[in-house]
Amino acid sequence: MTDSLPVRVFADRTEASRTLALEVAALVRAINDSGRSAVLGLATGRTPLPFYAELIRLHEQGELSFAQVITFNLDEYLGLAGEHPESYRAFMSRELFDHVDIPAENIHIPDGTVSPEDLSAHCAAYEAAIRNAGGIDFQLLGIGRTGHIGFNEPGSPRDSRTRKVELDPITRQDAAPAFGGLDQVPEHAISMGCGTILEARKIALLAWGKAKATIVREALTGPVTDQVSASFLQEHADATFYLDAEAGSEL
Ligand code: PGA
Repeated sequence: MTDSLPVRVFADRTEASRTLALEVAALVRAINDSGRSAVLGLATGRTPLPFYAELIRLHEQGELSFAQVITFNLDEYLGLAGEHPESYRAFMSRELFDHVDIPAENIHIPDGTVSPEDLSAHCAAYEAAIRNAGGIDFQLLGIGRTGHIGFNEPGSPRDSRTRKVELDPITRQDAAPAFGGLDQVPEHAISMGCGTILEARKIALLAWGKAKATIVREALTGPVTDQVSASFLQEHADATFYLDAEAGSEL
């Protein structure tokens, strides 16, 4: 296994999420104390749910304010309006933003309803907004069974930026139950690129369960390749994998 990419294996996802939430809360406080807003890159899917529950708990206990937090989400399904329950905008409101004190104007999520002619300008503006915020202090990631981070499916170049992407058939299959059938799952998304993600100063990738064990092993110990975009994290100076025992069971 590479020496450069730390792995922390916890008994279960609750313990892992609690640990990371405390670390992120401390980071936000430290950055806010230094006199600026903290910039968080956020993820969707089943994986971050226990982590967001812990952030909400810390907020309710008065230990974490989002008043000076700016967020950028990794991706959004193309063709879904923010009101669609499976849109990532709706997900983020439901699972985090509605429960904390983040100002609405500090939230950034790609717009799934952008027209084809405005798409490249929208993606460039997303990249510019990240830069103007000072770059991402902390990026949260899950990992898909294709090895994707964000929606950077196999073949996504290391230097890719925010753009329109085509979803891998495996990714669409994994999303089918939530959408009530494969034919309901969008075929495209807007996603931050690998290059966008790798510029974050600190990164945590979370993975739970047996179904993720093989791709976690490949990402950590396999070659650095655009066929497994999470493998690019091996070359990041401050990326850590947070796993439950099952996701870490093939290491
Ligand atoms: P999941 O998706 O959290 O729903 O497993 C992870 C991902 O695709 O990045």
